[in-house]
Amino acid sequence: MLLSSEWQRPAPRAAILRANRTLPLPQRVTIAYSLHLAPFDASLLLELNELARTVFDEPTMDLEWRLAVMPQATAVLARDGGRLVGFKLGYATTETRYYSWLGGVHPAARGGGIARQLMRRQHRWLRERGCSQVETAADQGNTAMAHVNLQEGFAVCGSRSMPGRVQVLYLKLLK
Ligand SMILES: CC(C)(COP(=O)(O)OP(=O)(O)OC[C@H]1O[C@@H](n2cnc3c(N)ncnc32)[C@H](O)[C@@H]1OP(=O)(O)O)[C@@H](O)C(=O)NCCC(=O)NCCS
Repeated sequence: MLLSSEWQRPAPRAAILRANRTLPLPQRVTIAYSLHLAPFDASLLLELNELARTVFDEPTMDLEWRLAVMPQATAVLARDGGRLVGFKLGYATTETRYYSWLGGVHPAARGGGIARQLMRRQHRWLRERGCSQVETAADQGNTAMAHVNLQEGFAVCGSRSMPGRVQVLYLKLLK
């Protein structure tokens, strides 16, 4: 583990509204963030697979293979009371270029800034190790991911068609 920190995130707006009916103050949730480098423990891979199955409609592919085989694979994690609620996975494609491959936040934890924090921690680590570019892709119509990507400095650099889907490609120069 290279990095860990805690950040108080406000509860999602709907939860605050519900809580305010019975509590005078909004609840706050403490999220712990950490960055892990390959090789990954089998127990962590199990947790990642379980959350990925919850987050994505389709079975999540070759998660273990990519994290074991692709160079300089990392996993930035978000935990709420020890429970994994978010992840951001990536790997290097050249000496100075990184692919931010897969990210997800548990549906119950969305809207509180976890995806943004995971991305910032990944990019901070990349800058520290001299990486100059990070790229990512998201399905066309994924407004949540497009919103976070564009707000955090990515620019659209293309698109690619795959069977049954079109993905938008994003690139960010790390300064
Ligand atoms: C995309 C995803 C990771 C976002 O996670 P999140 O923790 O809810 O995102 P954040 O709370 O950090 O949101 C960051 C910004 O995006 C905005 N946002 C979040 N969901 C949004 C939505 N559905 N539509 C529009 N904007 C949205 C937030 O409002 C916030 O912007 P703001 O600070 O200006 O308000 C999450 O929705 C998810 O896991 N989706 C399914 C998996 C997926 O699509 N992964 C990406 C492909 S690899």
